[in-house]
Amino acid sequence: MEKILVTGSVGQIGSELTLELRKRYGNKNVVAGIRKTQPTGELKESGPYEVVDATKIDKITDVVKKYNIDTIYHLAAMLSAVAEKNPQAGWNVGVNALYNILEVAREFNCAVFFPSSIGAFGPTTPLDNTPQDTIQRPTTMYGVTKVAGELLCDYYFKRFGVDTKGVRYPGIISNVTLPGGGTTDYAVEIYYEAVKHKKFTCPLARGTFLDMMYMPDTIDAAIDLMEADPSKLKHRNAFNVTAMSFDPEILADEIKKHIPDFVMEYDVDTMKQAIAESWPNSMDDSAAREEWGWDPKYDLAAMTEDMLKVIGEKHAKGLI
Ligand code: SER
Repeated sequence: MEKILVTGSVGQIGSELTLELRKRYGNKNVVAGIRKTQPTGELKESGPYEVVDATKIDKITDVVKKYNIDTIYHLAAMLSAVAEKNPQAGWNVGVNALYNILEVAREFNCAVFFPSSIGAFGPTTPLDNTPQDTIQRPTTMYGVTKVAGELLCDYYFKRFGVDTKGVRYPGIISNVTLPGGGTTDYAVEIYYEAVKHKKFTCPLARGTFLDMMYMPDTIDAAIDLMEADPSKLKHRNAFNVTAMSFDPEILADEIKKHIPDFVMEYDVDTMKQAIAESWPNSMDDSAAREEWGWDPKYDLAAMTEDMLKVIGEKHAKGLI
């Protein structure tokens, strides 16, 4: 990993992963791939950025050649609720763009990180302690593209020797860039609303358990897997990874430990609720732990403390 391209670098994960990769591998060695949204602040100032619309193979090829890229973190994506509203675009971004990335990786010998998701599971999957290898019959376009992506990545490894690796991320909670249109977004929004208004209207019902993870662990998962000793890997695409599982009530109770007068109401979004119910309540991530040492640092209590501190500071400065 010497010259890295991150697609989707202004997104929720990309905006923080790109900066961490620059810290570890050198600013000029990490190219931020953007589409329409321009990078701002440190992301813009600290290193190169290029327009890389991954649905256009020529764009990817140009940037990979220009910078001698050897590793691609392919984070450009459309989250579940957005893809469900526009499934044709969901397929294009989820599968056609990944296919382009893999073709360029094959030609120019790049390693590829692909983020799959809890969305790669479906209602016929065992939803408690969901095994690494199990039934994957998702009922959303997002999930269909994630299963196709996992299979494509495994295929390119076996057939062409492309060094593809991936994880199945749970809901990602962070305080720099908001997620855009996922089913798990509520677990981010609740912190902002708790700080700003001490009140949140939850779009998922009580008792809806989902896996979640804080951003520092999300970043470590991607980089640690890409640096893992390949001889120890039995799996590649994609590893279950999780750090915690909770329902909206448990999350609200944790926030109330810091903001005692926080109030939560419910206004269930039927589409998001149906998606959430088709996803695991909690995944078994023992394969990731055994094969490459996955060991998340943040649980719900530690994450909540940090989220409220950071968002509280931003609010005090008038930034949000
Ligand atoms: N956070 C994603 C979503 O809700 C799941 O991977 O779409």
